[in-house]
Amino acid sequence: MSRKYFTKATDIAKRIVEERVKEGDIVIDATIGNGYDTVFLAKLVGKTGKVYGFDIQSKAIENTKAKLIESTLTERVILIKDSHENIDRYVKEKIDLVIFNLGYLPGGDHEITTKPNSTIKALKKSLDILKENGIIVLVIYHGHEMGKIEKNIIEQYVRELNQKKYTVIKFEFINQINNPPLIIAIEKNL
Ligand SMILES: C[S@@+](CC[C@H](N)C(=O)[O-])C[C@H]1O[C@@H](n2cnc3c(N)ncnc32)[C@H](O)[C@@H]1O
Repeated sequence: MSRKYFTKATDIAKRIVEERVKEGDIVIDATIGNGYDTVFLAKLVGKTGKVYGFDIQSKAIENTKAKLIESTLTERVILIKDSHENIDRYVKEKIDLVIFNLGYLPGGDHEITTKPNSTIKALKKSLDILKENGIIVLVIYHGHEMGKIEKNIIEQYVRELNQKKYTVIKFEFINQINNPPLIIAIEKNL
């Protein structure tokens, strides 16, 4: 049976994550939202790994906690109700992977969205604690006003990263209407 290969951005991001994250890894979900990525990551890191999850909304923390309890994965996950720009206050170890699924919580308040300044701060701090060979994946929604600004600032920032230190790629659906989400992924070189 044929299966569509170029699926939506979140599925492509998941495939990158799935290929990289292994048992025992330490990873960050920088925007837990409804917890789908957090649960996915918690399964991949196994019993010996750890997931740090950030969100500024109580609703996101509650929804994610409920999903983790349901899947008996709570012990591998540390949920933090704070902005990801403060990652360094909570994460004191080197990290294998960070995922940012930017924008607003689906089904929630569209005004509570990630913002360019805090996203860039979080991205810089993530790069500092990323292990060599570690990966950062950003899913960027630029259909809304703040998202457009965020996309431009992120692209400007990552374009200037030293290519000796980092490899940066972008996946974009270039023939689709309505600004579909795009992916930027960064690998810290050895
Ligand atoms: C698109 S949703 C994430 C979806 C999620 N990954 C999932 O699997 O359901 C974006 C989330 O980012 C959160 N957010 C916004 N600003 C943030 C910040 N500064 N730090 C951490 N989370 C933030 C929002 O509250 C929202 O829940």
